Amino acid sequence: MNVLLINGSPHAKGCTHTALEEVASQLHQEGIQTTELHIGTKEIHPCIACGACAKTGYCIFKDDPCNQAIELGEKADGLIVGSPVYYAAPNGGLCSLLDRMFFMKSYKYAYKPAAAVVSCRRGGASAAFDRLNKYFTISCMPVVSSQYWNAVHGMTPAEVKKDAEGLQIMRTLGQNMAWLLKCIDSCKTTHPHPVREPQTMTNFIRE
Ligand SMILES: Cc1cc2nc3c(=O)[nH]c(=O)nc-3n(C[C@H](O)[C@H](O)[C@H](O)COP(=O)(O)O)c2cc1C
Repeated sequence: MNVLLINGSPHAKGCTHTALEEVASQLHQEGIQTTELHIGTKEIHPCIACGACAKTGYCIFKDDPCNQAIELGEKADGLIVGSPVYYAAPNGGLCSLLDRMFFMKSYKYAYKPAAAVVSCRRGGASAAFDRLNKYFTISCMPVVSSQYWNAVHGMTPAEVKKDAEGLQIMRTLGQNMAWLLKCIDSCKTTHPHPVREPQTMTNFIRE
């Protein structure tokens, strides 16, 4: 089994990576592999709502990591998205990537356990955490929780390493993700995931 870790920070080895690494350590102990995708520091296109992905399953923009995220997300058994907190929200580049990764493509990730992880210096963690969870809860993805909302605190990885409670929250998240993945795997023949009704979209218009 493999869990995709999306590192939505411009810092490849920063605080967000430090948090994801702690989650990954528990997954590895449980025999689950991880793949970390760093979104990098180059420009990430916003979604232009062209709808082309509805036909192809991929984004028309090919010069940033979005299509790689789509492919890795489709192959993975679980997903963890990490972000630094910017003005009490996830990193804007990460939101642009996730908008394009999920829009018209959430069927690719349905029924895969998911979790968000955020890193902040001081405040805004739970608002950023809530925003990231929106991608999962509109996509039939079971959200994995921990003993507290999934945040670490620090400006540097060294500071995050001193956040004993934050790191414990990450380890608990890793254990819970491993447990749920194994539960889902062990009953996939006896209890396959539900077959959904075709989606009704009323746009709040009633005729
Ligand atoms: C543009 C910007 C906005 C930020 N806004 C916040 C904020 O609202 N709250 C906070 O606690 N930290 C804020 N920070 C600090 C980062 O969230 C924090 O240092 C984070 O741990 C960095 O993670 P990284 O090393 O993975 O990039 C901000 C940093 C930047 C660059």
